Amino acid sequence: MRCDQTPAWQALQAHAAGFKGFDLREAFARDPGRAAGLSQEAPGVFADLSKNHTDSATEALLLQLAEQTGLAQQRDAMFAGAPINNTEGRAVMHWLLRQPASAPGGSEPKPIRAEPTPVRAEPTPVRAEPTPVRAEPTTVRAEPTTVRAELVEAHHQVQETLNAMLAYAEQVRLDAEITDIVNIGIGGSDLGPQMAVLALQDFVLPGKRFHFVSNVDGHELAAVLKGLKARHTLFLIASKTFTTVDTMLNARSARAWFEAQGGTDLARHFVALTANADAAAQFGIRRWLGFWDWVGGRYSMWSAIGLPIAIALGADRFRALLAGAHAMDRHFQSAPLAQNLPVRLGLLDVWYRNFLGYSSRSIAPYHSGLRRLPAYLQQLEMESNGKRVDRGGQALPYGTAPVLWGEPGTNGQHAYFQMLHQGTDVVPLECIAVKKPTHTLAEHHELLLANAIAQAQALMLGQSDADGHRHFTGNRPSTFLLLQALTPESLGALIALQEHRVFVSGAIWGINSFDQWGVELGKVLAKDIRARIASGDASGLDASSAALLARVR
Ligand code: F6P
Repeated sequence: MRCDQTPAWQALQAHAAGFKGFDLREAFARDPGRAAGLSQEAPGVFADLSKNHTDSATEALLLQLAEQTGLAQQRDAMFAGAPINNTEGRAVMHWLLRQPASAPGGSEPKPIRAEPTPVRAEPTPVRAEPTPVRAEPTTVRAEPTTVRAELVEAHHQVQETLNAMLAYAEQVRLDAEITDIVNIGIGGSDLGPQMAVLALQDFVLPGKRFHFVSNVDGHELAAVLKGLKARHTLFLIASKTFTTVDTMLNARSARAWFEAQGGTDLARHFVALTANADAAAQFGIRRWLGFWDWVGGRYSMWSAIGLPIAIALGADRFRALLAGAHAMDRHFQSAPLAQNLPVRLGLLDVWYRNFLGYSSRSIAPYHSGLRRLPAYLQQLEMESNGKRVDRGGQALPYGTAPVLWGEPGTNGQHAYFQMLHQGTDVVPLECIAVKKPTHTLAEHHELLLANAIAQAQALMLGQSDADGHRHFTGNRPSTFLLLQALTPESLGALIALQEHRVFVSGAIWGINSFDQWGVELGKVLAKDIRARIASGDASGLDASSAALLARVR
């Protein structure tokens, strides 16, 4: 049943009407168990949800909404490999990429130690043969009799590709001649690897530099190439489709630069990470790592797209990243909905968006390594749930994806937090803090954590002042996520948590969170305008575009 037609939706509307006078300070005074009751331990992540505009009655009604919209069944369909990406006829199985080798039906993965011990690279270069890893796409169908066998086969292929990728990553790590790894890709083929390599900088192999070129803007590629030598550079051309024009142009220009520098061994210096091996071969790339159509671009950092992460961290730590995400998958699959962190966060997102009218969420990672996390989460949430029609294509009468935005704390505090504290709109804040740093500047970390807690506190408590300019209303909501340490394992868990909370709200809204038709129109028009920039032909253009065309020529 569509969410707005359920009894729970009506009940939530009535509940929201009575919620206008809700005050966080009073809620804490009324209920001494509030902090504990609205906190949740999940693998790798502790969440304090208690400073949100919610209470046990809200949670109970949201759980009814989950039940009446078949959330658990929708989740189970994803984990069964059903083609829930209905507009593209595809299964959604990024979770399979992080299942341990022994699964499905196997034992638990071995816990992997994730201490930031320094990794030493052997000086002997190892020449990797350009053995293509054949990873033919498996299409997983919904029929229950065949689906399990197909899942087992897909899992087998995943393991084969993962092993080949990690073996190759280890070769690159040992190859002292390769000092610079340039990932060329955009969207899901850039944001995940870039975010993770930055986040896990303390684990990155010394002696290797990682560069990420995504924008078609030549300034980006030119700036990176300036500091490189062909002989020491490995280009990873990351594109699921291998047709994205931005990436293809960057890849062609990188190849031209490589050849102009006297580079000849393309097989050694260019690797494709793609689900379209034929297109990579046509481009002239002989070494490739594949993945499958059931891995969405924004869910692909666990696949071959994660090669930069694997080179940076090494095989064991890449497996630890997968293991952390897998632990969160299991939590999402098996914890009762009332104690299921992705479910609680996703339901809160629905409550805020549809009942309290909060249409954006600000992300504040209190760890500078997580500085690309807001951008990563933007794609995850807004490309997945930025939809105005239901799964059947019918226009929806309610709002979907919130706007996500943010910067690391404490930077954001000195920029836009003014608006969070005293602006006219209520913007829920999501703080992500890390208990143990990897540096020894204890004073810094203490101050950082103090700021994270204090901001959430200040938003809630506010401060009365007769002078309106100095008055803080308080009662502003926030969520606090805490990791013990930022390790491959905890990062994996954090990202899987975010993936699943996006799944939850998308499932409640009844939309397909796994397509992205909204990006197509701009691509088509850009092709047309590009031709017009060359020819000067403005015929049939609207007056504004025609005038801009004339100005840029
Ligand atoms: O244009 C949007 C998009 O298709 C994203 O969904 C995707 O992550 C990105 O472009 C890159 O696509 P590809 O990996 O196929 O180059």
